[in-house]
Amino acid sequence: MQSFLEKIAAEVRPRAAEGTPAQYIPALARVDPTKFAIALMTAEGEEFVTGDADTPFSVQSISKLFTLALAMEWVGAPLWERVKREPSGMRFNSIIQLETENGVPRNPFINAGAIVVTDALMHNRPTIEVGFRNQMRLLARDETICYDEEVHRSEMLTGDMNRAAAFLLKAKGNLTEDAILVTNAYFHFCSLAMSARQLARAALFLIKPQHGDAACARGLHAQRLRAIMRTCGLYDQSGEFAYHVGMPAKSGVGGGILAVNPTMGYAVCAWSPPLDRYGNSIAATEALALLAAKTGV
Ligand code: DON
Repeated sequence: MQSFLEKIAAEVRPRAAEGTPAQYIPALARVDPTKFAIALMTAEGEEFVTGDADTPFSVQSISKLFTLALAMEWVGAPLWERVKREPSGMRFNSIIQLETENGVPRNPFINAGAIVVTDALMHNRPTIEVGFRNQMRLLARDETICYDEEVHRSEMLTGDMNRAAAFLLKAKGNLTEDAILVTNAYFHFCSLAMSARQLARAALFLIKPQHGDAACARGLHAQRLRAIMRTCGLYDQSGEFAYHVGMPAKSGVGGGILAVNPTMGYAVCAWSPPLDRYGNSIAATEALALLAAKTGV
């Protein structure tokens, strides 16, 4: 497996030149575009890594997978009255459907849906930023995981589309907390810095339920989370990714893609900052496609 990951890395790294790191969040635009990592963890506890697998990067929308997992555990069924489970077919920060669909976001992996999930998590838990970071430390078994405050500030300065979504949700009666406080918490979740190794380790609960001490790892939601990853995990490119790669996955504009293969029993994170026009990492997608083809997805 180790030499196979190295071969994949050599083959796909040049593809990064076809994209650009996210520009709309200034702190992400400054990230070194040549960074690249693959980290693969098996259910048996073996770890295989190549490249910059211990360099923390901005998890961005990969956080949406973990906030959803927590909300399924802490909030339960009432969550699904506030957010649907359908692919949106729209850009991840679009607010068009919110206006025409009565303020109920299509799914928890687009920005509006994740803002509703954040609101649900915040209810009665004013220190959710600390709580979420601690859950991630438990899942990844690493006490050093922190927010990147520069990325957080950068998002606060440029996050008007997210604030627009939050105010629209509020106007439609689908936000209980203060819209500005909710978006600030949402920006914090996105600004969490984790390495590919830490993310792959944190995703093991999706193939090995009841793995670890984190609240979301205690529940039996893994199969349902994987279903939402498969259908909505790469925004308006989810269908194409399912066809091309075939693993349930979640991407972020920091250039990471986290995927799982429940049949073969592994979690894998690939990272390369340059993105395609949908906001998904080009080289990370190609790395996962080669891995999937090789491991029989
Ligand atoms: O809210 C944003 O636009 C970013 N913090 C996260 C975007 C991302 O990774 C893709 N979105 N779903």
